[in-house]
Amino acid sequence: MTALRIVAVNAGLSEPSSTRLLIDRMVGAVTEQMGEGRVEVEIVDLRDLAVDLGQAMTVGFASGRARAALDAVEGADALIVATPVFNASYSGLFKMFFDLVDIDAMAGKPVVIGATGGSPRHSMVLDHALRPLFAYLRAVVLPTGVYAASADWAGADGDTTSLNDRIARAAGELVSLLTPRRGAAVTDVTVDGRQLSSASAVTDGRRQAVEAAGIANFAKLLGTA
Ligand SMILES: Cc1cc2nc3c(=O)[nH]c(=O)nc-3n(C[C@H](O)[C@H](O)[C@H](O)COP(=O)(O)O)c2cc1C
Repeated sequence: MTALRIVAVNAGLSEPSSTRLLIDRMVGAVTEQMGEGRVEVEIVDLRDLAVDLGQAMTVGFASGRARAALDAVEGADALIVATPVFNASYSGLFKMFFDLVDIDAMAGKPVVIGATGGSPRHSMVLDHALRPLFAYLRAVVLPTGVYAASADWAGADGDTTSLNDRIARAAGELVSLLTPRRGAAVTDVTVDGRQLSSASAVTDGRRQAVEAAGIANFAKLLGTA
């Protein structure tokens, strides 16, 4: 079986970066839930491309490493993206990268969204900034977005159960969307610890998983209906 290709886009700027840490956790959860050998992941750190992306904006086209990153994103089966919150929105670097992406290549592409911030009060950035951006790009944004505030990393072991739960739920939604199981029972497909379907046979496992996840319009968006 050909491995699915997931590209994770990290817009974190710090060293170390909490946004990169969130990306690593999300990638780890998806990889674990997908199973060994079923997914290939590439992580794009926009920090390293900042100058190239700025230049691409001024000349009107991307080249070099920026072009390679855009090609990877455009060719991916799914994306995991995360940005730090800057002044109550996504960062300029994050927006600049997705301003350069080919809109048609984004249509129907599943995207898990994430953000980090100093304040837990800015978690709505996922819904008022990231979701509209990817809706405009006609991507399929998964229902669960993951926001990590500074306090989420502050537990004794540098983590909290609730952040892990949110990451696992977002990963489960993506895995359900990406794993069509034509003609097979889907009783073992779960999201958020909940069995998605008791159907013993389905003709379109992808549509079944999507509908069971409560996102019935995804199949139409993906052209599988
Ligand atoms: C210019 C700037 C603006 C920021 N604005 C916000 C904000 O509006 N809300 C918030 O919660 N955090 C804000 N922060 C904090 C960052 O979002 C937070 O530290 C983030 O996790 C940094 O990510 P990184 O470690 O991956 O670089 C801001 C930080 C900077 C540098």
